[in-house]
Amino acid sequence: MSSIDKVQEEYPEQFCSLLEAAYGEGFLSEGGGEAIDALFNGFGLENKRILDIGAGLGGPAAYLAGRHGAIVTGLEINRPMVDESNRRIPEELRDRLSFVYYDDISRLPFAGASFDLAFCKGVLLHLDTAEKNILFGEIFRVLVPGGSFIISDWLSPEHGRWGERMETIARADNLSIVANTEDDYREVIRKAGFTLVSLGDDNARYARYNDHVADTIDDPATRKRLAPLFSPEYIDRQIWEYRLLAEAIREREMLVRKIVCHRPK
Ligand SMILES: C[S@@+](CC[C@H](N)C(=O)[O-])C[C@H]1O[C@@H](n2cnc3c(N)ncnc32)[C@H](O)[C@@H]1O
Repeated sequence: MSSIDKVQEEYPEQFCSLLEAAYGEGFLSEGGGEAIDALFNGFGLENKRILDIGAGLGGPAAYLAGRHGAIVTGLEINRPMVDESNRRIPEELRDRLSFVYYDDISRLPFAGASFDLAFCKGVLLHLDTAEKNILFGEIFRVLVPGGSFIISDWLSPEHGRWGERMETIARADNLSIVANTEDDYREVIRKAGFTLVSLGDDNARYARYNDHVADTIDDPATRKRLAPLFSPEYIDRQIWEYRLLAEAIREREMLVRKIVCHRPK
């Protein structure tokens, strides 16, 4: 089974409901609008054409279009997510927000130089190094010369191996996550033709987000909302996992990195 087939199975609708309850409507990764603002800090976004690869249920893309006036295309390999994201687009954002399905990382469905900016948040950990090489080459192609590619993701200090806490979390959620290091990313970025602008440490911020997520799920109002979908034992288990994740981040067993690369002119 390809990593794309696996990922499609790893995000069933019910699991996404839990993620949205934890992270906010439309968000399938931590931090909400605050994390998106931090990701694009220093970039002017008004009327910029942005490609969101792995757009999930569209929260980050809608935030960029609604709050920052960007023109955003969300790209997803999960077709039901694309349909749902398109259904949720508010009327006032219909001319600056759209979601597109694709199933081939070697051929993004856009002409060259179509976007000023591209980003991936919480997506690339699902792709192995060979797949990253292919996808980064395509992202390079669809960006304008002088455009930027911004990544936020989970890295490992050790190539091909996660620590015990991360293994426990991946097993419990049946998630296949690839242990790539900073050096792996440097190499993929270089091979695609990008220049690495910065590689920043986001561990402190994301440890805090995950503590907050655990508190949010533990809140009686959230528990009540999730009760028809999940057993109390399952919810307790999720809270425990988010606390373990925060610990893994604090102990640097997992590295949350913001990476900015530039397509030279
Ligand atoms: C943790 S979610 C993050 C979603 C979104 N970026 C967010 O922050 O809300 C990971 C998403 O990546 C998508 N995904 C995984 N591999 C992908 C690929 N090769 N191309 C596009 N999307 C992918 C999954 O379907 C899933 O929606």
